[in-house]
Amino acid sequence: MFSKYIVPALAASNLLGVVSAANHRHLHKRNYIATEVEIVTDIVTVTVTEGDLPTPAPAPSAQPAVAEAQSYKGEATKAAPSPEPVISMPTQAAVQAPAPVVSKVSSAVASDYPVAPSSGKGGKRGLAYNDPKLVSNICSNSNKFSWAYNWGSQSDGLDAAVTFIPTLWGPQPVHSQGWAENAKKAIAAGADTLMSFNECDNGGQCNMDAGSAAAAHKSFMQPFVGKAKILAPSITSSQDKGAGIDWLNAFKQACGADCPMDGCNAHWYGPGGEAGAEEFLTHLRNVNTACGKNNVWVTEFAATSGDTDKFVSHALNQLDTNATYNFVEKYSYFYLATGSLMQSTNALSTFGNIYATQ
Ligand SMILES: *[C@@H]1O[C@H](CO)[C@@H](O)[C@H](O)[C@H]1NC(C)=O
Repeated sequence: MFSKYIVPALAASNLLGVVSAANHRHLHKRNYIATEVEIVTDIVTVTVTEGDLPTPAPAPSAQPAVAEAQSYKGEATKAAPSPEPVISMPTQAAVQAPAPVVSKVSSAVASDYPVAPSSGKGGKRGLAYNDPKLVSNICSNSNKFSWAYNWGSQSDGLDAAVTFIPTLWGPQPVHSQGWAENAKKAIAAGADTLMSFNECDNGGQCNMDAGSAAAAHKSFMQPFVGKAKILAPSITSSQDKGAGIDWLNAFKQACGADCPMDGCNAHWYGPGGEAGAEEFLTHLRNVNTACGKNNVWVTEFAATSGDTDKFVSHALNQLDTNATYNFVEKYSYFYLATGSLMQSTNALSTFGNIYATQ
């Protein structure tokens, strides 16, 4: 449920030009754990500045701010009808000339997406989502996806033919109270893996030292040993001391030999292009080494600069076909929403199209 607030928070921060693309996620993460009152403030800010939407800039990379604002509008005015024409393939022109914000309120329909060749079920690729309808829509025209998650322990009405993987975002009661019941439900519905805390090595996320996280992880995950595979808390790709892989090493040590842990969960943000994708893949090999288990999930990754199409295409090709990356069990790009895999509420972005078809 908390992840629901990501999109408005992102929209506000981008629209106001408060942060650069590189900082953008950091701010969203901070908003993500902020009080609901603060988040509501962000929503109001976006609404008020609607008339101030910047003129579409020539570079596609300048578009997410506008696109995310549109996505937010869609969320805020869900009930409004929309005779929006279908955009079947993302084009440069579409990226540069978004329709007026007020018309972007429809839910995507199945025919908005290109049809993928039939392969990929049971594969590694998944969808990180806030809106389960978007998962249904993309999955009705692409069978590239096998699983989905939303940073929470409940699927929020996901009805696509993909496996929902629950996350215990953090040990606080607001996340953990329903955990045991929700995890059991997800396992009964086909989940074979449970995800633990979200980025304890990030002050804006679960934010816990390795020792405390290990103790809490044990108490919530022990009951599921033998019933599902259990991942260590996700880690950022930070190279700082005490963060990223360094945090994972400390967690493993604190958790000990009887740690309920069958694999690791990595996040990565960095440069685009093929070179950026190779940096990403190198990081995953390092996580695999630190993890000591031949089972790594990558549940957030994205290029934050450079050529995203080339990044996505190269990363997918390697993860799916290169035996070096057999240790990567599942991955999900960040994320299925306007401004990322989608360019509007009813059309995929160019790299979203690659993600749905390659
Ligand atoms: C597979 O990955 C390894 C490690 O990055 C790389 O050296 C090798 O060239 C890749 N193989 C192919 C066919 O891309």
